[in-house]
Amino acid sequence: MVALGLFALALANEEEARQWAEEYNAEAQVVWYDNVVASWNYNTNLTDYNQDESLKYSAIKAAFDRESGLTASSYDYENFEDQLLARQFRKIADIGEAVLSEEDFNRQSELRAEMQRIYSTAEACNKPGDDDPDKCYPLDPDLEQIMATSTDWDELKWAWESWRDVSGRLMPDMYEEYAGLLNKAADMNGYDDNGDYWRSWYEMETFAEECERIWQQLRPLYEQLHAYVLRKLKEVHADHIDEFPFTGHIPAHLLGNMWSQSWGNIEEFVRPAPEKPGLDVTEEMIRQGYTPLKMFELSEEFFTSLGLIPMTEKFWDDTMMVKPDDRDVVCHASAWDFYNQEDFRIKQCTEVSMSWLITTHHEMGHVEYFLQYKDLPVQYRDGGNPGFHEAIGDVLALSVSTPEHLEEIGLLPDFEDDPDGDLNFLMNQALAKIAFIPFGYLIDQWRWNVFSGETQKEDYNTDWWEMRCRYQGVAPPVGRLATDFDAGAKYHVPANTPYIRYFISHILQFQFHKAMCDAAGNTNPLHRCDVYRSEEAGTAIGDLMKLGSSVHWEEALEAMTGTTEMSAEPLVEYFGPLLEWLEEQNAGETIGWSNECPEGTIVP
Ligand SMILES: *[C@@H]1O[C@H](CO)[C@@H](O)[C@H](O)[C@H]1NC(C)=O
Ligand SMILES: [Zn+2]
Repeated sequence: MVALGLFALALANEEEARQWAEEYNAEAQVVWYDNVVASWNYNTNLTDYNQDESLKYSAIKAAFDRESGLTASSYDYENFEDQLLARQFRKIADIGEAVLSEEDFNRQSELRAEMQRIYSTAEACNKPGDDDPDKCYPLDPDLEQIMATSTDWDELKWAWESWRDVSGRLMPDMYEEYAGLLNKAADMNGYDDNGDYWRSWYEMETFAEECERIWQQLRPLYEQLHAYVLRKLKEVHADHIDEFPFTGHIPAHLLGNMWSQSWGNIEEFVRPAPEKPGLDVTEEMIRQGYTPLKMFELSEEFFTSLGLIPMTEKFWDDTMMVKPDDRDVVCHASAWDFYNQEDFRIKQCTEVSMSWLITTHHEMGHVEYFLQYKDLPVQYRDGGNPGFHEAIGDVLALSVSTPEHLEEIGLLPDFEDDPDGDLNFLMNQALAKIAFIPFGYLIDQWRWNVFSGETQKEDYNTDWWEMRCRYQGVAPPVGRLATDFDAGAKYHVPANTPYIRYFISHILQFQFHKAMCDAAGNTNPLHRCDVYRSEEAGTAIGDLMKLGSSVHWEEALEAMTGTTEMSAEPLVEYFGPLLEWLEEQNAGETIGWSNECPEGTIVP
């Protein structure tokens, strides 16, 4: 009798919980919406007033989350019958930074807003050779443009060094305080430290080990690419050959990108068949008069060709597609869910180029995810894990980048489909995807060490470079001091966006691609599969997105790919022919680099 009574009580409790969760959702939609609006206003118009408003609404949201978390915790949700409801409660109870006192919470918001503003408004001045002493260069588009197009050793070095001087270098004190507050919150929430908290989103005890396992699996592929690229860069910069370190590292300013994170811009120097056209269609896009709007429309057309949901009218009205010239904005591309089930936007400073076309697909992939799960409870409006969210747009872009597809949309008129053309294509893809792997891995290796206390402020920069040299095999082109803060010169550190998600996405997107290609009945090699207009492929990825974060990601992954494991196999399969070619080219050459940075580059 007693047991039965308790059971009835538990059921009543669960019924009450269900009702409360419904009210919670309705309210969260309003409070979260107001917060996103204020944050959008700040990010697209960096004024003091907008910063204050944004801080105000983020404090209101924190208070709401804190209160809701307390209420959720008062239910015995681990014993709910309904596992879906229990999972929702677990998420409501996990409130992150909102656990902090009002004072601490506001301080951490303020620090982040401030670091983001420094990053987004920084400009490098005094470029050697400029007549006008007042001429200054923002990162986006000027410094990025120099990194992408210049082959002048000294100009590249200037852009590389100056950017770090005007951004990261101003932040180490703020970052130390900020990391301390994140740790404080993690501790109050019962985590070892903030790194432990971030890793918990992957719901996997062995997550860090899993990342290391995947990195070790891909390392040989990266080493082959690195060795080949280094040799070619030595030819391009033969007049500076003495400045290449003996340790086998690539000087970090030569890879066509401010952070050496993707190398597509040096494609013409490493093209396997140099006499044949490359696969970057930027020039053709410009010749045909492409605009940012046309790039957005083209991207949407790919989604709808798969039977996926089109962008909304509000999306087209409110998206920020180009950099405004009447105010400061955060240019770094991002996609926004306003949590009211109808407002979704992208913010990016689009230029006409192929890499921007890929970025547009990437951001629109986020919005497609938002649209697919918009009717779930707010706590489930999230990716299966953070890597899922980053992978959607990239998966579609894998199809868009194929010669098949570029030809079909008229951007690749003179492609010759022979082994040379195939290798040129794969090399272009490798410069984006393989080159990124160690970078995607190391950022949070570094941050996890900061959060665990292993890396203290005095060692921020030394430890950062220790990882850059060891994992990426790149070295700074000028001496770095312990007081520099080069991690802060990468957007996601001041903006506090976790980064391992991009590493995971680079693995998952090839798994998703393979599953979609199978669904589409593809008979080409994996790297030449284009799922355009396949509703079967669209259903496969759409079903995954519809789940949001309502189930453990292993379940969602299994439903789509047949396995619960993250696997680098599809990526290795995709690049198989290129790897074979690289190994031939590199036969008898030195592969790899020393673990330590070249002597004298890091001044402790
Ligand atoms: C930018 O924000 C300010 C408030 O600080 C506002 O007065 C101004 O109209 C905004 N500009 C635009 C273009 O929205
Ligand atoms: Zn993204």
